[in-house]
Amino acid sequence: MSPVFEVEDLRRNFGGLAVTNNVSITLDKGDRVALIGPNGAGKTTFVNLVTGNLKPHSGSVRLDGVDVTRFNAMQRVRAGLVRSFQVTRLFFDMTPEEHVALAILQREGRSGRMFGGYARMPEVMMEVDDILSTLGLLALARKKVGEIAYGQQRLLEIALALALKPKVLLLDEPAAGVPQSDTARIERALAKLPADLAVLMIEHDMDLVFRFAKRVIVLSAGTVIFDGSPADVTRDAQVREAYLGSYANAGSIA
Ligand SMILES: Nc1ncnc2c1ncn2[C@@H]1O[C@H](COP(=O)(O)OP(=O)(O)O)[C@@H](O)[C@H]1O
Ligand SMILES: [Mg+2]
Repeated sequence: MSPVFEVEDLRRNFGGLAVTNNVSITLDKGDRVALIGPNGAGKTTFVNLVTGNLKPHSGSVRLDGVDVTRFNAMQRVRAGLVRSFQVTRLFFDMTPEEHVALAILQREGRSGRMFGGYARMPEVMMEVDDILSTLGLLALARKKVGEIAYGQQRLLEIALALALKPKVLLLDEPAAGVPQSDTARIERALAKLPADLAVLMIEHDMDLVFRFAKRVIVLSAGTVIFDGSPADVTRDAQVREAYLGSYANAGSIA
């Protein structure tokens, strides 16, 4: 099986410093991979490079066999490379149902003026219900986003990404800012993601990383220093050394 996502020798410098230093990563269909690394390792920069929000200085990104390196962000989304939305981009006066319906209509290239009529489109409503139930949000479908808990707003970000029918889903810290009591909800939702979707998750919560990921990639100072099983990552000498300098994470990886 050829990989659905292939990043090869991706490089980006900021002021002479290689923040992404010839990074190569491949994902197969159905992969569940966590990308971790100390603060400043280059995780967010990597996501911005592969989503087309930042231009690499060299290297390539292939999606399902198509070279998308020169695609802009929107073209990459259309090709199936989707990152979860940010809570700051949700509309607090709109409902989860409206958000997901809008995303589906956008995917289908239907006119914005038809938006009000989505309730009369049974195929759209069925898909909305399906996606909201995957994320455990069905009971909140018609509440205002401003009235639902932060953890559930973060799940809605993932719902919106799913509505775009991705082949590869990038999740940038889905549990960040979510109270510990709500992370189980996120974990349950992640477990229900479509089986053939390839998922790359950046996450600091190591409990979540270990429960979710079948493979862990560690980035340190812009370089991949580990790509292997969750069982091996904590034993890896280079990984331990990379985290030693980072007080915040030293305890969680040890
Ligand atoms: N636009 C930018 N200009 C200059 N330096 C940047 C820029 N964006 C990120 N950096 C630097 O790149 C490094 C990696 O940052 P980042 O990708 O945010 O790391 P992470 O997400 O792993 O914490 C940091 O040293 C950061 O200061
Ligand atoms: Mg970051």
